[in-house]
Amino acid sequence: MTTQQKQQQYQAATQEINAILAGEKNMILKMATINCVLKQHLDYYYWVGFYCMNQGALMVGPYQGTLGCLHIPLSKGVCGRAARLQQTQIVTDVHADPEHLACDSLTNSEIVLPVFDPQGNLIAVFDVDSTQTGAFDTVDEEYLTKLLTAHFKEAALQQHYL
Ligand code: SME
Repeated sequence: MTTQQKQQQYQAATQEINAILAGEKNMILKMATINCVLKQHLDYYYWVGFYCMNQGALMVGPYQGTLGCLHIPLSKGVCGRAARLQQTQIVTDVHADPEHLACDSLTNSEIVLPVFDPQGNLIAVFDVDSTQTGAFDTVDEEYLTKLLTAHFKEAALQQHYL
């Protein structure tokens, strides 16, 4: 896929997500919608979802794909590293990353981004996995950072389910 095609897919997905989520506040609703629309537009996505901060560790939240790990301590996985460092992680080849947790052996590359609430607290990480090696780059990082910032950090956010 060319960079231009990737940008077009992100632009279409972002427009759709922004329209659907206009005025919405609930965190779970936003997470579920973002997963669904991104996975429909970005054809190299294999697993997409959120791991939410819960009592100092990560707990699986809304996702689309094969069965994910249920709990990830901050000391483990690329997800744990993204949460610990509060920085985006792009892993070109997960088999070359000793911290990677192999929940699904078909995954070959991934991107994990921290998700912040309006107070700047880390509330989750957003994890996307691909069966392609080297599927993610700074284009993914740029679009996903903007999307997550707009819908969680700079948005009204109701963190309780009800
Ligand atoms: N990619 C993660 C594990 C979770 S799943 O792949 C769904 C990691 O290494 O942190």
